[in-house]
Amino acid sequence: MKKILALAVLTLLFVNCQESNNQKSKKDELVASTNQEVKNEKTVLASDSEGYKLMQQNCFTCHFEKPDPSKKSQMIAPPMLNIQEHYKPSFGDKKAFVEAIVKWVNKPSKAEAMMPGAVRKFNLMPPMPIGDEKITKIAEVLYDIDFGDLPVQRDAMKSGVLSLNNGKKWQLQKQDYDSVLQIAAQLKNFKSEDVNAYHNLGKSIFNQAKKLLFNKSYDSKTLKEIQIFFHKVEDDMHLLMAVKTTKEGDNQIAKLNKYFKEFPNYFE
Ligand code: HEC
Repeated sequence: MKKILALAVLTLLFVNCQESNNQKSKKDELVASTNQEVKNEKTVLASDSEGYKLMQQNCFTCHFEKPDPSKKSQMIAPPMLNIQEHYKPSFGDKKAFVEAIVKWVNKPSKAEAMMPGAVRKFNLMPPMPIGDEKITKIAEVLYDIDFGDLPVQRDAMKSGVLSLNNGKKWQLQKQDYDSVLQIAAQLKNFKSEDVNAYHNLGKSIFNQAKKLLFNKSYDSKTLKEIQIFFHKVEDDMHLLMAVKTTKEGDNQIAKLNKYFKEFPNYFE
């Protein structure tokens, strides 16, 4: 009798154990399938969403999705990946990002351009007034889409090292040289408790720097040096336009200050 009881208890324990194991694996399954759904959602967003299709129809005619070195000669506009990389850090959140893209696609302008290098290289994009609703859907996908890990083309330009012109400094027009010194002074003297003031400073110095990049009167060698210099600071200016805290802003300014100190060593 004792034996039977012991067996019964054991069986019961075993069954219980099995059950909880079952429950556990069911729970695992549930977690796994939810993860899968999250993943799927991202993939759906990327390739099957209406926004992506609209982007294919309206934007890929000129823009590649991502840089493709083998098709470099066919490139007539910056790849979408590079646009995402420039716009995301410059606008604090998705809403501001989408607004900026909608505004841009309706009416591109040098004054609003975040990618002056691209404007200079490819000329200004023509307006594509396909309706705010469609552009919004495209912009949302452009914000969300994960282009994967790709070598970033503009890094090649960024890694360019500043050099002198046969041992001499590069000659800039006086107003350009002065405007860079002015940017440096603005950065050096900046102090504020208001995070918006940091954003405005970022916008203001970026716009001043753009003027220099758009100046058509420099020869190609001088322009290249100017571009190398500004590519180095462009990301930091963009980031300054959307810092979340004044502390973040101070860090950006410290970096920019360091870069701008180099300027008089190479240009005059
Ligand atoms: C007819 C060709 C053409 C089409 C179509 C086109 N673009 Fe462009 N786009 C350009 C060129 C050229 C540039 C680079 C020069 C510039 O920035 O204006 C550019 C640049 C951009 C930029 C960066 C602007 C900046 O800040 O400098 C954005 C954003 C952009 N395009 C979005 C779009 C979207 C979204 C679509 C689809 C609705 C689209 N483009 C369709 C030619 C095109």
